Amino acid sequence: MTTSHHEDHPLLADPARTPVAVLGAGAMGAGIAQVAAAAGHPVHLVDAQEGAAAKAVDRIRDGLARQVAKGRTGQGDVDALLGQITPLTTSDMTTVPAVALVVEAVVEHLDVKRVIFRQLEQSQSPGTVLATNTSSLSIDAIVREATTGHDAALHGGRSPALQHPGRVLGLHFFNPPPVMRLVEVVRGVRSDPAVLQAAAELVRRWGKTPVLCASTPGFIVNRVARPFYGEAQRMVEEGLVDAATVDLALRRAGFRMGPMELTDLIGQDVNLAVGESVWHQTDEDPRYAPTDYQRALVRDGRLGRKTGRGVFTYEDGRAVDADPDEELAGRLVGGPVVTDPVARTLAMLVNEGVDLVHRGEASAEDVDTAMRLGTNYPKGPFGWLAELGADRVRETLAELDLVYPGGRYRPSEAL
Ligand SMILES: NC(=O)c1ccc[n+]([C@@H]2O[C@H](COP(=O)([O-])OP(=O)(O)OC[C@H]3O[C@@H](n4cnc5c(N)ncnc54)[C@H](O)[C@@H]3O)[C@@H](O)[C@H]2O)c1
Repeated sequence: MTTSHHEDHPLLADPARTPVAVLGAGAMGAGIAQVAAAAGHPVHLVDAQEGAAAKAVDRIRDGLARQVAKGRTGQGDVDALLGQITPLTTSDMTTVPAVALVVEAVVEHLDVKRVIFRQLEQSQSPGTVLATNTSSLSIDAIVREATTGHDAALHGGRSPALQHPGRVLGLHFFNPPPVMRLVEVVRGVRSDPAVLQAAAELVRRWGKTPVLCASTPGFIVNRVARPFYGEAQRMVEEGLVDAATVDLALRRAGFRMGPMELTDLIGQDVNLAVGESVWHQTDEDPRYAPTDYQRALVRDGRLGRKTGRGVFTYEDGRAVDADPDEELAGRLVGGPVVTDPVARTLAMLVNEGVDLVHRGEASAEDVDTAMRLGTNYPKGPFGWLAELGADRVRETLAELDLVYPGGRYRPSEAL
């Protein structure tokens, strides 16, 4: 993303005089508070649950103590950082002190977020930038009028649109925020371009790499990544290859982890929920249809490492039954498309990336950056497109479409 001339935006003033409020002191909120404090901002870390914000500060302190022990930072810097964070317990966001930026990171419920943004609008000045760390909700759904849901009921059946939607955007951090460099800067239909640019520059100053995208289901990373899981699951479901071998084939293609071991790490339930959300929000586009294979894992409580069993079985943190067939992996890759996990996966990742750009939701450069930093892919979709060529990708999709009609493998118009 290119830098532009919004450096005089109040968000970009001296951090010491630019307070930030982070709402929700869970895994994400605590990490975001740490990042903002490290950049020199006074931070109010707010949580509705008694003691949660203070406990989050303790977790930040413990994490930093480990960094000091490893010699990565000094105790003086840690004390200064911790001194910047003030925990606050309240469920009434009108009581949050006046700040330049709010980053909301409470539970993933549209109604809860809608209520919070309306409270913020009552109490914060119209210049305060209001960001949400939502992974799956639309920025526009937070901003607009609503006639259903808890929030509407609270307001006598009609919950109002925000009066100043221009200053509302998504700042989608990745877990854990102090480590992960990527931040998706998400524009709602009403978001002010100057606010988006200033927010992108701010997170850059926080040491992050911003990418800009529209408020499209899954944004960039959670959308483009869907076929990485879906293709492997379909192949295993059909008995074309076993789970350990599909993982091996993709690791050999440069992915740090295969899709099966990766979903066991993420949690099959968490990964399925993201997939379901994108699928529902795209009117059940067959491209994103969750697999029966993954649904069965979740139904059977095989959630992955956290339950000791997912695709694989874990003992002492190691998969004990991930036994790839090296010879088979070698034979499938470069063979017929239908049984080649790498050809299928790459063609679909390219198709997703190209389509997102074709719809005007992000730039090609940002899509590649997002996938490399957000998912650790060795390349982005446009990197693979350059390597494979559009003809080859189109032919791969056409072959798959012949075998599996129904629209999942329809090529993007841009191909
Ligand atoms: N966990 C991830 O990997 C991840 C990554 C990116 C974005 N997100 C998004 O970040 C947000 C937070 O996720 P998380 O994993 O940190 O959740 P979490 O459950 O760890 O923490 C949420 C916190 O919000 C507090 N809370 C709930 N309702 C509140 C309210 N009305 N007012 C104030 N505080 C309230 C809870 O007490 C809890 O401490 C969600 O929107 C999620 O979709 C999560």
